[in-house]
Amino acid sequence: MAIPAGVRKRVADLREQLQHHNYLYYVLDAPEIPDAEYDRLLRELQALESTHPQLITPDSPTQRVGAEPLKEFASVRHDVPMLSLGNAFAEQEVIDFDRRTRERLGAESVDYVAEPKLDGLAISLVYEAGMLVRAATRGDGRTGEDVTQNVRTVDTVPLRLYGKGHPRVLEVRGEMFMSRQGFAALNKRQQKAGEKTFANPRNAAAGSLRQLDPKVTATRPLEIYFYGVGRVEGRQLPGRHGDILARLAEWGLRTNPEIKKVSGVQGCLDYYADILALREGLPYEIDGVVYKVDDIAQQETLGFVARAPRWAVAHKFPAEEELTKLTAIDVQVGRTGKLTPVARLEPVFVGGVTVTNATLHNQDEIERKDIRIGDTVVVRRAGDVIPEVVSAVKAKRRKGARRFKMPVKCPVCGSDVVRPEGEADARCSGGLYCAAQRREAIQHFASRRAMDIEGLGEKLVNQIDEQGLLQDIADLYALDQGQLSALERMGEKSAINLIAALEKSKPTTLARFLFALGIREVGEATAQTLANEFGDLDAIMTADVARLEQVPDVGPVVAQNIYAFFREQHNQSVIRKLIKAGIHWPTIEIKPAAEQPLHGKTFVLTGTLENFTRDEAKARLQALGAKVAGSVSRKTDYVVVGAEAGSKAARADELGVQTLSEDELLRLLGG
Ligand code: IVH
Repeated sequence: MAIPAGVRKRVADLREQLQHHNYLYYVLDAPEIPDAEYDRLLRELQALESTHPQLITPDSPTQRVGAEPLKEFASVRHDVPMLSLGNAFAEQEVIDFDRRTRERLGAESVDYVAEPKLDGLAISLVYEAGMLVRAATRGDGRTGEDVTQNVRTVDTVPLRLYGKGHPRVLEVRGEMFMSRQGFAALNKRQQKAGEKTFANPRNAAAGSLRQLDPKVTATRPLEIYFYGVGRVEGRQLPGRHGDILARLAEWGLRTNPEIKKVSGVQGCLDYYADILALREGLPYEIDGVVYKVDDIAQQETLGFVARAPRWAVAHKFPAEEELTKLTAIDVQVGRTGKLTPVARLEPVFVGGVTVTNATLHNQDEIERKDIRIGDTVVVRRAGDVIPEVVSAVKAKRRKGARRFKMPVKCPVCGSDVVRPEGEADARCSGGLYCAAQRREAIQHFASRRAMDIEGLGEKLVNQIDEQGLLQDIADLYALDQGQLSALERMGEKSAINLIAALEKSKPTTLARFLFALGIREVGEATAQTLANEFGDLDAIMTADVARLEQVPDVGPVVAQNIYAFFREQHNQSVIRKLIKAGIHWPTIEIKPAAEQPLHGKTFVLTGTLENFTRDEAKARLQALGAKVAGSVSRKTDYVVVGAEAGSKAARADELGVQTLSEDELLRLLGG
């Protein structure tokens, strides 16, 4: 069959791209595209080659695993090749894998060992007579690089095996990786030192291991988990993979604590769901799970196909990084006036949702990452965290790509944008004159945990503000029914309801009122503490920074924010206006600390409470003089146990600390 010229060209093009990305990824440890994109290119090439096998060449990226080893390291030949894994993306592919496995084995059901698939790099370690003699990277699977001196610096790698009964020669294999925390700390350090930062923990691990100077590697937070063996001589290992791993652990070779023996394909799929739910909470990144046939004799029957075993498969999680085009950078103004550059993106499906906007944090970040308008960018969305632009793909940058500049005037109100020295954030100086700040301030003011003005949500606030009815939050209380019912889609009834809701919000508490003002970094808990400490608003408004700093949990920054807020003429007049409009609260009698009902008692909160958030419960307890601690010790007086409480409740039992149910807490707080 003749091959269309278009196909030949596409195949050549794909190979060239894959080769380029292989080089960036394996040799330079600096990939420009997410793994998911690479997988797609490779799959496309594989598909074309399988329809036109005449096009397969020995040097096609489908015919080998990685790139050449770096010249500077000695090469190491793997006597037992280091294989790779077939991938399954959909549940059906796992079901098919299990069916094929059962058919080949003539078995009704197969036992598997299920393991997290860590996102690091594969390493082979050879122990002779119990001593570590060589460590090598996987390289292309046949030949890797000798990184013995570097691996010796990793403290999770034993230099000598623990216990007894090791084979004379034991080659173990595992994943070298960096924890999220280690990665963050390393990047912070690199940035401070003006050195290059890493795009993700995988690159950080690879870059750290491939250091020519082991002293540098020694400073890097590398870790390893072992997941299998290679060459073994002089002693037989157990006949099941799970038992082999248990043996490795006995010899001091650490294995992942999440590894589990499962039964049949349902066991695999349940495990997948369990680990997916744990994913964001794990201290390291994983990109899926691996299922391996447990019985080694069965593994041998199944054998290999090309470069992957038939007895194992990687079940991948949805990608957390994808590529898309950055079409524009807009600037958003927040309640506190902070200007945040936001990337407008061509819609892309990542981390389980379609993303069209992503944060770029601030100007410095954009410059550091050299991201330009029109670039193809890597977008990341992990868990429920807001999506962010990780990096730009320089290779795809087109001529017209433009640099971003922070506007000098606020895009909403036209006031000057200021950026105090030493601060990362630019701010609008317009205060409540700025509609963006005013609208968000009003929404915050009206929110449930602040003044709780029912029915006053974002849409309505914008509508009212658009009519020019609000100069500041106090104007809310001057709105009349006529003005309100004139608004579009606002019936007479809704207008009456809103007026009633405004009326209902007037009796409040000092703490709520303080919180509602929206002072930077004054949340509910801080507002409550301030109310308790001072007892009345005038005392807070006239306190100096030193006095404010004496308040528990108020540090210099928050004290400065509070002080500055109340020095502002405009804020003072808004507060006067609000009080004149009828907002009031009961006076708080400040009792000397020793007379407070819970003075000297320490509480710990655990589990989910139904009637309050943690912060609210904490604030209420503190209001009565209690201390609220984070962990249970012998000094704890009470542990409040909510729903699905975990280890803290158990710890309380262990130490004989009294526990309280939520009902009991409510009673204690006086209803
Ligand atoms: S087993 C013959 N187990 O994934 C089996 N690999 O895609 C070969 N990986 O090169 C590997 N966690 O770097 C295995 N629990 C695990 C793994 C794991 C991560 C990596 C490893 C390997 C790649 C294959």
